[in-house]
Amino acid sequence: MKVLDGADWKMTLNTILILDFGGQYCHLIARRIRQLRIRSEIVPHSISRDEIASLSDKYSIKGIIFSGGPDSVYREGAPACNPGILTMGIPILGICYGHHLLAYMSGGVVSRGEKGEYGISTVDVERPVGVLKGLGGKQEVWMSHGDTIRSLPDGFEALASSVNCPVAAFADRDQMIFGLQWHPEVTHTKNGEQMLRNFVFEVCRCEPDWRMGDFVDRAIDEIRRTVGDSKCIIALSGGVDSSTAALITEKAIDKNLAAVFVDHGFMRLGEPESVKEFFSKLGMDFSVVDAKNRFLKRLEGVTDPEKKRIVIGEEFVRVFEEIAAKKGADFLVQGTIYPDRIESGQGAGADKIKSHHNVAGLPANLRFRGVVEPLRDLYKDEVREVAQKLGLPLEIVRRQPFPGPGLAVRVMGEVTLEKIDLLKYADKIVAEEIEKEGLDAGLWQYFAVLLDTMTTGVRGDSRAYGHVVAIRAVESQEAMTASFARIPFEALERISTRITNELPPIVRVVYDITNKPPSTIEWE
Ligand code: XMP
Repeated sequence: MKVLDGADWKMTLNTILILDFGGQYCHLIARRIRQLRIRSEIVPHSISRDEIASLSDKYSIKGIIFSGGPDSVYREGAPACNPGILTMGIPILGICYGHHLLAYMSGGVVSRGEKGEYGISTVDVERPVGVLKGLGGKQEVWMSHGDTIRSLPDGFEALASSVNCPVAAFADRDQMIFGLQWHPEVTHTKNGEQMLRNFVFEVCRCEPDWRMGDFVDRAIDEIRRTVGDSKCIIALSGGVDSSTAALITEKAIDKNLAAVFVDHGFMRLGEPESVKEFFSKLGMDFSVVDAKNRFLKRLEGVTDPEKKRIVIGEEFVRVFEEIAAKKGADFLVQGTIYPDRIESGQGAGADKIKSHHNVAGLPANLRFRGVVEPLRDLYKDEVREVAQKLGLPLEIVRRQPFPGPGLAVRVMGEVTLEKIDLLKYADKIVAEEIEKEGLDAGLWQYFAVLLDTMTTGVRGDSRAYGHVVAIRAVESQEAMTASFARIPFEALERISTRITNELPPIVRVVYDITNKPPSTIEWE
């Protein structure tokens, strides 16, 4: 089954390609470029010159950024790029590993530095040109490197240096190739945004044409071209992604879209009701399927997290296919977004981390002619911008990300009705306390998890034996990495007191203080 994208459709959007050398900031670079209103796309570092040329049929590729990466360019087998890319006449900016690689592949010397630089450093910009235009003198930058460029290839000139790094920035102005030892995409680099602006607008001469208003028109056009007069079906979860995908598709094909809300019973407290209320008012073809018992039955005895995800994904599609058959739908519309594709191993050589329900959970023999994913190239903040433009209520626009399998992957071990109910209420308490204090500003997600460990407590004068709830609250940009949130102890105490008072079967509350990596945001 193929994800369709209106194959004959030509776009001329200004685009910056980001070659992924395994750096943790690849998505951050991509988002920073998009914040400048330029489309960016992450591609594997092994992309060929011909592949770039064929992408140019569809987009106007104005520049290429080589990301950072953990390797050393001189190590045998270290990732490199196709040398032909350097002579395509497209401006290139190398960041950290990319900076080393551009110098190394052009004949320069790179080796381990005497002293690495990790964290905030000061560099002297001796030649404020190109990427560094208007940024002469001392610049505060964020670096993370052990290797350093010892000598530059012919035709290259150093633009900046630091105490431990004689070539902290370089240019080959004839070829429009630039390198920065530091990370302009990280906010600790004070003028990082200006550096990226310089690259995109001064060096690559981009026109800022990545606008979410235009995106809606393009997406509508694309959907019409892809599905024609065929009928489509979408599973609405009430989250911002599926709601936005549904509204765009409805605008494109009107009554040929059937939106179905499958209530698997693992939504947060009150959520199914509010989804039903909002979508029934819109006048679209919207129906609700109560499948709570089916899902619980299928999950009996299932404890393995991946198995849970697969079982739920499969059951979902089964319920769905039954309705699709009744509705006579040929195409499935999904709210998959860009990071979902990357995390499910469909991106630049990324390993599979979890089977995301709306991507990899689909069985191969799905009975649809194709899948339409109107949001497949958008980041979450871009989806929210589109959602707002479409007039979705703020409650949906700002809704926290929520896994497709819902609370079932927040109940550790076997899923039972009793555990799901406990978790729904505990989760509600976490949300209420965090939102009441305004602590949710800046948080990516905050929720409760029910553990499968039983623990001893005391109630009144007697021993109690009950469940443990973990609280998870994280800050993140795109969920590829995340840091645990520094929630004030007072708020955590209020949450803990309320949970143990209002939910007697729970006798202990703990706070998760792990970042991603090494952890993930969800517990399963
Ligand atoms: P992890 O746990 O992998 O989660 O760090 C990253 C982000 O993805 C969300 N998530 C999902 N979203 N279907 C989704 O649409 C899923 O199956 C799924 N699993 C996790 C998670 O809530 C976090 O924001």
